[in-house]
Amino acid sequence: MSKPHIVALGGTSRPESTTGRALARCLAIAEEAGARTTLLTGEAINFPPYELCAPVPDGNIARFVETLRSADAVIVGSPGYHGTLSGLVKNALDHVELLRGDDRVYFDRMPVGMVATAGGWQAAVSTMAALRTVIHALRGWPTPLGVAINTGADGDPLADADPQLRLMVEQVLWFLDR
Ligand SMILES: Cc1cc2nc3c(=O)[nH]c(=O)nc-3n(C[C@H](O)[C@H](O)[C@H](O)COP(=O)(O)O)c2cc1C
Repeated sequence: MSKPHIVALGGTSRPESTTGRALARCLAIAEEAGARTTLLTGEAINFPPYELCAPVPDGNIARFVETLRSADAVIVGSPGYHGTLSGLVKNALDHVELLRGDDRVYFDRMPVGMVATAGGWQAAVSTMAALRTVIHALRGWPTPLGVAINTGADGDPLADADPQLRLMVEQVLWFLDR
């Protein structure tokens, strides 16, 4: 694959969101390796609750769907809210339902990297497990390594996680080279 398109999806509506910054870092690593990238975060995923019989999507939802249609790989990131992924991120993932009728259904045949952040290890890890479950349901192929980040830890948790973010992106790119 010459120049794969890697789409990162998630984070929060705060520009300083650790999760959003971790996703941006993943994309920077992917770009270094020659990928083209798109980050869907904040307003780009701030949709009304998904409804099965909603009208044909337009605006941000249509852009979200078209971006995912052109993706070769996805990286999903969520903060841990009360032990699991945030409503914002889950709702965005629910909108992947709009890809149900595509030739490539949902995230079928795509590698999916994952990042979970939380104020403690327990929620970081339970959020990671929940993300994996959702990605499996969407037919994605989670990378062996998912990166759990404890934002309550001493030091610079994002910098400390950098080698893991790099390894996870390398696993995504390895899958695309098969
Ligand atoms: C509504 C809400 C619920 C949260 N629940 C938990 C939790 O159950 N466990 C935990 O460790 N941190 C919890 N946190 C803290 C966030 O997971 C943590 O600050 C995370 O790193 C935020 O990521 P962000 O910088 O991308 O916003 C919660 C934060 C909010 C706003």
